[in-house]
Amino acid sequence: MAKHNGRIIAIANQKGGVGKTTTSINLAACLAESGSKVLAVDMDPQGHLTTGLGIDKENQEFTTYELIKDACNIGEAMIINVVDNLNLVPANRTLAGIEVEYVGVPNMQFILKNTLKSLKDKFDYIIIDCPPALGLLTVNSLVAADTVLVPIQCEFFALDGLSQLLYTIDLMKENLNPDLVIEGICFTMFDSRTNLSLQVVENVKDNLTQNIYKTVIPRNVRLAEAPSHGLPINIYDPKSAGTEAYRELAKEVKKNNISKLK
Ligand SMILES: Nc1ncnc2c1ncn2[C@@H]1O[C@H](COP(=O)(O)OP(=O)(O)O)[C@@H](O)[C@H]1O
Ligand SMILES: [Mg+2]
Repeated sequence: MAKHNGRIIAIANQKGGVGKTTTSINLAACLAESGSKVLAVDMDPQGHLTTGLGIDKENQEFTTYELIKDACNIGEAMIINVVDNLNLVPANRTLAGIEVEYVGVPNMQFILKNTLKSLKDKFDYIIIDCPPALGLLTVNSLVAADTVLVPIQCEFFALDGLSQLLYTIDLMKENLNPDLVIEGICFTMFDSRTNLSLQVVENVKDNLTQNIYKTVIPRNVRLAEAPSHGLPINIYDPKSAGTEAYRELAKEVKKNNISKLK
């Protein structure tokens, strides 16, 4: 098998409903479509990444939970080719147990990192869908990650909570993962019919120094429909505005030179 030099990207924002899972599914699928070998890891007990990729989350013997508990190995937990070139480690509500079972256990922050380390030469991209919280599951994701991609919804409170996330990322860099870099901020659910979306984009750009993706993800009903069919957008509706946007984002991610972002 050809050697890959995988980049682990955590899709994180402690706010719910900002487009983390939609971005995880469709960025992963568009990277896979472009020929990259991709692994998607569901780190949210809601299991939306799993169902969104057409996998029945309740009927899995091995999930992220068993993987973190060392009750299975990565080969057992991985579902091969949920779409071409895209493998998945599924999750369901059992994963919530991690947050309580491991309180105070030393080195718990490093479990996912140690699990994924051996996969970096087997995949080009490993995409981690984080839960809407800054607890142990997100910390594990940010410790394992090379980069973090932050989706921001184009709404009035977009900047609210972002400073807390950026502060957490700084803490991670100082303490647990000195090499972590912010891959970029990506605007989601942009509504071209309102001035508000444009104002939000301008306002965030004025207030942040981080890399911001040129690609802006539009609000697109096909993106909201696709998960109920268990399909990523590029397969559900290849000609939609959502497909076009996530293909562009995938191109930008591929072009991103991580060492320049440090
Ligand atoms: N660009 C978009 N256009 C339309 N609906 C979207 C878009 N992005 C996300 N959604 C919808 O918004 C809701 C929240 O998105 P989701 O990706 O689940 O957010 P998160 O994972 O951050 O909680 C979902 O119902 C999803 O289908
Ligand atoms: Mg989600």
